[in-house]
Parts: sequence; C-alpha cells; structure tokens
Amino acid sequence: MNNLVVVSNRIARAKANEPMTGGLAAALLPVVEKNGAIWVGSSGRLSDNQSAPSIELESLGRGTLALLDLPAAHYGGYYQGFANSALWPALHSRSDLIRASADDYRSYREVNAFVAEALMRFRKSDTVYWIQDYHFLALGAELRHLGAVEPIGFFLHTPWPASSIAARIPNHRQLIESMLAYDLIGFQTDDDCRNFAEYIRRELGLEIDDGVVTSRFGLSRLAVFPIGIDVDGFASMAARAITHPDVSRLRLSLRGEALAIGVDRVDYSKGLVNRLCAFDRLLTQHPSLKRAISLLQIATPSRGEIEAYERLQAELATLVTDLNGRHGEVDWTPIRYLNKGYGQSVLAGFYRSAQIGLVTPLQDGMNLVAKEYVAAQNPEDPGVLVLSRYAGAANELDAALIVNPSDVDAMARAMHTALTMSILERRERWVAMMAKLRAHTIHQWFADFVSALEEAPTRRAFVDLEPSLVPPAGAAASGNARVH
Ligand code: F6P
Repeated sequence: MNNLVVVSNRIARAKANEPMTGGLAAALLPVVEKNGAIWVGSSGRLSDNQSAPSIELESLGRGTLALLDLPAAHYGGYYQGFANSALWPALHSRSDLIRASADDYRSYREVNAFVAEALMRFRKSDTVYWIQDYHFLALGAELRHLGAVEPIGFFLHTPWPASSIAARIPNHRQLIESMLAYDLIGFQTDDDCRNFAEYIRRELGLEIDDGVVTSRFGLSRLAVFPIGIDVDGFASMAARAITHPDVSRLRLSLRGEALAIGVDRVDYSKGLVNRLCAFDRLLTQHPSLKRAISLLQIATPSRGEIEAYERLQAELATLVTDLNGRHGEVDWTPIRYLNKGYGQSVLAGFYRSAQIGLVTPLQDGMNLVAKEYVAAQNPEDPGVLVLSRYAGAANELDAALIVNPSDVDAMARAMHTALTMSILERRERWVAMMAKLRAHTIHQWFADFVSALEEAPTRRAFVDLEPSLVPPAGAAASGNARVH
C-alpha cells in the first residue's frame, strides 16, 4: 500500500473500553491499527500559533496518530459555526436550522487551509490522501494550492441532500466546486451520490459521464462505498462483554423484563423525540406491557454549545420525566435515560442484552449502531432491529422492521411486533442481516476506497488557480475572492 494519510476532525485515541462519540472514529480505529496509515486529526487542544501547526505523534497498532492543535482564533467559527450550524443541518435536510455568518465560513476555510499546511509535512512521492467528512470539504483544494498532485480522496459520512437544500448552504457554489479538487468522492448510498450529481449539473452546470465529473480542476469520480463494521470482531466482543460489571448489573436489574435499547448522540437528526413518543404510545395502547418492557436510552451529550442541541437536550429531559411520571410505578421506571457515553465493549454487551434495537433517525448517513446491534446478537435468540428507512443502513438491513420515523403510531406498532415475534422469524431475519453485514465489512470498505483512489490519475496542482471559480448566482465577482 502507498503512504496513506487519513484525515478526520475527530480521531480515536480510545481503546475499546473508552467512550467514543460518533461512528466515524470508531469505524476508522481498527482499519488504521491494522493497515498502518497515518491518521491526522484534532488533538482537542487549541493553539494561538496560527502559522506553524504543532503536531504530536502517537503509535496506533501498525499506524500512527498525528494530533494537531487547531487555531484558537478560528475553531469556534469552523466547528460550532460553519461545520455544525450550516453544513450539518443542511446535509440532514434541516435547512430551517442553518445559522452561519460570513466569519464562520472564513474560519472554516482558514481551518481547512491550516490542516492542508500540516498535511504537507507527511507528503512523500507515493502519498495518497484520504479526507473524511463534512468538516473538510475544501481541504483537497487547499492541498492542490500548496502543490499536491498526488491522489486525494474524500468520503462523506453524512447524507447528501437534494440540490434545492444544498443550494441553501452559504457560499455553496464556491465550497462545493472546491470539492472537485478530489479525485474520488465517496458516498454512503446511491441516493446521496445521485443528489450530489444533480447539484453538480444544476448549480455548477457541469457534465457527468459514467460517474466522472469533468471540471477545470480535472476529473473527479463519484462512487458509493457503504461503510461497514468489523462483524466478527464485534460479535465476539459482545459475547465476551456479558461478564462486564455494567452489563451484568443491567441484566440482573431487568428481572426477566424485555429491554429495548437506543444509543445516540443528542442530535436532532436522530429522531429521539419521535422515538420517545412512540414508546409512550406503546405503553398507552398496551398497558399490559408495563413491567414487561423498558427502554434504555443512552443519549450522549453532543455539540452542547449550539442552541439547537441545547434546546433538544432540554426537550428530551422534559419528555422522559413526563413519560416516567405517567407510566412509572414505585418499583418500576419505564425509561432509563443516560446522558453519557460508553465504550464499544460495554455497548456490545448492552446490545446483546436487548430484545429490541431502536435505530430511528430522521436522516442518517449510515448509522453503525444498527449494524453493531445486529452483530452483537446471540445467534440462538437474536433480538429485533427496528430501523428507520432514512438511515443509510436500511439499504442493506432490509430484513429489519423498517419504519418511517415520522410516523409515531407505526413505530409503536413495530415495537409491539418486535416484542411478539416468533423465534423462527427473529432467526431468519437475523441470518439475512448478518449475511449482508459480512458482504460489506469495514475492512472491505477501506480496501475498496483505497484501491479506487490509488487508480486515480495524477493531477496538476492549482498553484495558479483560485479555489473558487464559480461565482454565486447574481454576484459575478464575489465568488472569485479567495477567503484568506
Ligand atoms: O459521523 C458524523 C460525525 O459528525 C463525525 O464526523 C463526528 O466525528 C461524529 O459524527 C461526532 O460528532 P462530533 O465530532 O461533532 O462530536
């Protein structure tokens, strides 16, 4: 393999017993460990020195972690601002929540340029760069500006929305055109890839032939690489986890009661409000289920400095209190609601202890919790996955009980169906899902993307070109300005 440099905002220094937020870091950890890439990402510390990136190296199996202090002056505008208050809501089709200033966009571009500078330190003649996620849409263009001609790939872990929604992102033309500096742009699903292609045609007026966009930057291939998990590794971790003290305590406390489980970051894309309402509906419509089922909802705090997240956190707390107050008994609590994160090994044991896995996002790139829940099950007595049709995972896991996360009644019915499903049907569905998971593991995902990237033809650098060549509609000159 070439000298592979993987880049993501958040990296995992975590071992299996430490909490991780988000599927990306958890997914990349085993492949970097095994394949020996350099994984560059934020150290979590900020630096006042904007011109000279400080990098700390740590080993990770056969790979290396390169921890980067990001510039303090731009971090807020980049992370809370443009990345998570403009791009994240837009990518999850919540254009009503887009809030970002021109300064936020400038900071986003500054951080992308800063990371590009740092990456040049790892550049060798056979380097291949693989950039992850929406934090770094413009990183490839910044690398080209610094003279990089090597293959640069990009993978989007989130969905890509309809072009009418992407067009609401501030500076969308400048930003999305800069993505064409990438040789390979990977998506989770066919829908995401199609939506991106439609944007390129409609908003940028470019042709796409057989999945290849031709722009003045060169050729960019669009393709779909559904991310997977280490199926057998996760399954054996789940079997072992049964003896973990947290898992044993959970199982003992159930006293024969069935358990439904949800594990999510507190994020409006995850459909948590509707899920709680559906559980409420289930208990209202089937009072006999009191004491027969409870819900363990792990809701890991996330992006709490952003108002939409703060509001959601408060709304969920109110909903849980209200539901527990109405349905609870002196010796029974319907929802165990936990605002903290757990390590993969404990989660694996929790999944194996739950008869129902609830993965009901309103919109999700893939959702690896769905895959992990399936892999963690006891083959003799597997639980049932209730899965939103709007999670990327639903394309493969079509043997789950597929639900519309906006239809609270239908979700309550699906939970009831899951609870009463025969062992024969549970096994049949589980076997079908495991076959799908084995066909697309995380190792396969990694190998497929890297080999497609290594085949990309060499580009010329953009040293003579501005990154933004497409002016915003009706404002011909402004789109050409370099933002830093
Ligand atoms: O998978 C989407 C993603 O945004 C990752 O890029 C990110 O690491 C994860 O979710 C968790 O979000 P955050 O890093 O903002 O806590």
